[in-house]
Amino acid sequence: MNSWRTCLLLAALAACSTLSAATRLRLNELAAASAVIAGTQSTENDRPLIGILSQPGSPAPKGSSYIAASYVKFVESAGARVVPIKYDAPREEIEARVGKVNGLLLPGGSAPITPGHLFYDTVSFLVNLTIAANDAGEYFPLHGTCLGLEALAIVIASGSRVLEHYNSDDFPSALLLTPDAKGSRFFDGMPPGVVASLQASPIAMENHQQGLSAAAVDKHPKLKDFFKVTSLATDRDGGVYVSSMEARDYPITATQWHPEKNAFEFAAHLHIPHSPAAVEVTHAVAMFFVGEARKNGRAPANQAELDDLMIYNWPPTFTGRHSW
Ligand SMILES: *[C@@H]1O[C@H](CO)[C@@H](O)[C@H](O)[C@H]1NC(C)=O
Repeated sequence: MNSWRTCLLLAALAACSTLSAATRLRLNELAAASAVIAGTQSTENDRPLIGILSQPGSPAPKGSSYIAASYVKFVESAGARVVPIKYDAPREEIEARVGKVNGLLLPGGSAPITPGHLFYDTVSFLVNLTIAANDAGEYFPLHGTCLGLEALAIVIASGSRVLEHYNSDDFPSALLLTPDAKGSRFFDGMPPGVVASLQASPIAMENHQQGLSAAAVDKHPKLKDFFKVTSLATDRDGGVYVSSMEARDYPITATQWHPEKNAFEFAAHLHIPHSPAAVEVTHAVAMFFVGEARKNGRAPANQAELDDLMIYNWPPTFTGRHSW
């Protein structure tokens, strides 16, 4: 198929005798380039799957769990597809699903993140699977957003209460990059213009009542060994908290802020940034995270298994309709 495509291109070039010599030369170069690309096998996984953890609580009915559509659109916008990981599924089923995906996303929300609660224990299980996969020589990324960052902090601190109260409900903020942001996989993985606008204007959507102080990371040996803090932000009262962090030795990243909301959530009562620069943040973070997942080679055994795993089996529900 590649060779007939090239033939068609060459035939078209032959018919272009009225073009200038320079244009013909450029077309010849392009034809040669597409022939090279057609013959090159990409070493990256161009069909990445992301497992997204569900959680209990509103707007899910009692006994059910939910994944906010914005997280699904977020990873889909970067060329990945989603496999839901139900927080209350049996461990064997969770492990089997994780074995078919190329990375894990822990979304924001308000599920309980106290040891002993099933949701927290599932996060701990997912973090353990991630660490074990990387220790075994695989590249298997995990990203936590908001509640995901908070849960990650507690899990790595072995269940210690490391969080503090912050006044950052509905408070979009600018990021203050720390010296450790130099060499950060996360910030180096985004276009410099996006990183510059994240620092220059309040386009990181912050919406949390708890957070992690840099002092808490410093104080807790396990946290300090595991994570480096790459950015800080301030709440309404001037309280400073960790807004981005990443593992030193693992492809594990986390943001207290919500990259997915800028492009994909429009709650009327929230001040989610929707400017073009803010929407670029959504895409840049999605491209970074899915890019990490492209380095992993796991895959379902066949198309039927893939069909069964995908979130397309659960139709979306519009839960945001306004009532007056
Ligand atoms: C994850 O690993 C830690 C450390 O080995 C362990 O204490 C914890 O119980 C594990 N979590 C789960 C859910 O198995």
